[in-house]
Amino acid sequence: MKQSNNVITVSAPGKLMLFGEHAVLFGRPCIVTAVGQRMKATVQLLAEPVFQLNAPDVQITNYQKSMSELGKSDIPKGAKFVEFALYNFLERKLVSFAYNGVRITTKSQFSSQFGFGSSSASTVCVIKALSELTKIKLSQRQIFDLSYKTVLDVQGKGSGFDVAAAVYGGTIYFVTGGKVIKPLDIKNLPLIVGYSGIKADTVNIVNQVAEKAKKYSKQIENIYTSIQTIVENARKSLLKKDWSTLGELMNLNEGLLATLGVEGNKLADMIYAARDTGAYGAKLSGAGMGDCMIALAPPSKVRAVKEAITKAGGQVIDVKTNVEGVRVES
Ligand code: MEV
Repeated sequence: MKQSNNVITVSAPGKLMLFGEHAVLFGRPCIVTAVGQRMKATVQLLAEPVFQLNAPDVQITNYQKSMSELGKSDIPKGAKFVEFALYNFLERKLVSFAYNGVRITTKSQFSSQFGFGSSSASTVCVIKALSELTKIKLSQRQIFDLSYKTVLDVQGKGSGFDVAAAVYGGTIYFVTGGKVIKPLDIKNLPLIVGYSGIKADTVNIVNQVAEKAKKYSKQIENIYTSIQTIVENARKSLLKKDWSTLGELMNLNEGLLATLGVEGNKLADMIYAARDTGAYGAKLSGAGMGDCMIALAPPSKVRAVKEAITKAGGQVIDVKTNVEGVRVES
């Protein structure tokens, strides 16, 4: 596309949680990596006071409303993150907006079913694109903060780790709400990724864990603290490329997630199949019950592990890890 000063295309990566899910919602750290499957958004400033959205991946075609209605009335699910991102950007009033309206088209290189964080990635794309178009240079931190606010506005919950992966890229040590966002200097991370075919409903699963925590608060706090220790160890092993220890830590983390009740039978089948065929370790990635599992294996075992995941009913996805964060495409 030819670059002009009222239209821009940006992209942001999806993510995979490596260690620390659930505990990260309660002040603990986690480790997340950005993946090669990206979300793209083309944002155009318009003379007319309308907001237009096309997001075919989430069944939004020719959605349109007046700019004065932004954030109001019934917003279709697939439009919420983008609409609130635009609303929050304009709310900051950092800019005397020379145009009246905005047209946005998003296109994903990955299915929103995978749990790679398509909503957060599209939110980050929109904020970045608007900052470029309006010449307000937002720092990575400011893009994170505004995008995270948007995610909380829409879904009420979330640690923000997916937003951090979309903004910063790479592999990140992250504490709830972005209290710490520390890029880890690693070159590669040879993950095997298996998709369960089940869509995980994150908010629902988080609520189920919260229910359990009402009855077993002390036990669950202890689980979070154990997960924290695993994350700290994993950070060191990752930097040392000690894959076999990292695999063992995955298994430990998985055991604790199973205790929280979020393992899910299908993921468990895939995880144990991976371990049985020689993976250093395997665990779920994200909220659990569905979405994806990840495994680490020595090169000689990779093929067998992938076959075992497939046999257990999973779909092996080719995923590049540790990729670049949000960027301007054209
Ligand atoms: C979901 O992908 C991971 C959780 O920890 C939620 C979050 O961190 O936002 C369960």
